[in-house]
Parts: sequence; structure tokens; C-alpha cells
Amino acid sequence: MNWQTLIREIPDFPQPGILFRDITPLLANGEAYRQAINTLADFARELKAELIVGPEARGYVVGAPLAFALEAGFVPVRKKGKLPGQTISVQYGLEYGKDVLEIHKDAILPGQRVVVADDLLATGGTMSATMNLVEKLGGNVVGAAFLIELSELRGREKLGNLDVYTLVQY
Ligand code: PRP
Ligand code: ADE
Repeated sequence: MNWQTLIREIPDFPQPGILFRDITPLLANGEAYRQAINTLADFARELKAELIVGPEARGYVVGAPLAFALEAGFVPVRKKGKLPGQTISVQYGLEYGKDVLEIHKDAILPGQRVVVADDLLATGGTMSATMNLVEKLGGNVVGAAFLIELSELRGREKLGNLDVYTLVQY
């Protein structure tokens, strides 16, 4: 599959100077979407993932079908104020801003093998915050899966020596 032809570049979105990598053409192509998720599922299966955790919103478009393919559970990490139960929070920064992420306090069993998933790894701020939440609840983060990696932003380094899989690198 020629993944790069299915990822559209939009300059100066959401801020001047950011080259936005838009996955909506890939998502709209059924064969490509399925193949992309199945490839990430092979990675997560090898790691014996019991649970997939993904951050709002594009992390759901990757994480939920990934969990489905693995017959694993899915846990959403949400932006502040959206989860109805008791939560823990973490502040984080990303390529174009900062925010607060939350997870339900009872979402993960201690020692559960977790693969974290998102559409894109840029600075790694979002994913390291997501991992932080999982680890605070006692989860065992065994891998991270993404469709896209923006290599020059060195997000991979922020994830330590975690097993990281990315389908397409820029
Ligand atoms: C985007 C993307 C990743 C994150 C990557 O999410 O989906 O989650 O940025 O950037 P980072 O590696 O520098 O943290 P965004 O916060 O724009 O939210 P969205 O998924 O709701 O569009
Ligand atoms: N999230 C962070 N940086 C991004 C980029 N350049 N394109 C799409 N999503 C992003």
C-alpha cells in the first residue's frame, strides 16, 4: 500500500507553520483502513496486549478498531471534563498547544498489558501523558502503535525504550 498518497498535507493548520498530516483520505478507503489496523494488530498481538488505550479523538479511530481486531478491551483517555466517573489527570504539551488528559480511576487492573495507540507521533507529548496515566493506575505499557511518525520531532525518544511501531515515517 502506498500510504503516503492517502495522507493529505495541509499547510498552516491549526496554526501558521504547522504542516498538518490529515489521515481522513486513508480512513475513507476501506481497504487501506483495514490493512493499516491489521498491521498494527500484528504488532500488538505479538506483545500479548490485553488492553488498548488511546487518547481523544484521533486515537479512537485507531485504538478502537485495533482493540476489536485483537478481541481486547479499549480504554479512552479524554480531554478535561468529559469522563463521567472519578478520574486522574495529567497536563501535557503537544506540537501545537497544551491541554489536560484524563482517565477513569478504575479503568485498568494492576499489571494489565497495555498497548497505547494513536494516529500520529509528533513531539510525543500526548503519548507520554497517556502512558503516564496508565502507569499511575498500575498498568504495564508494553508497546505504542501509530499510523504516522514525524521523525524530526523526536517523539520516539520521549517514550524511552518502549517498543514503538509506526506505519509511515516523515
Ligand atoms: C494530535 C494527534 C496526537 C497528537 C500528537 O491530537 O492525534 O494525539 O496531536 O502530537 P504530539 O506527539 O506532539 O503530542 P490533537 O491534540 O490535535 O487532538 P485530536 O485527536 O482531537 O485532533
Ligand atoms: N498532531 C501533532 N502534530 C500534527 C501534525 N503535524 N499533523 C497532524 N496531527 C498532528
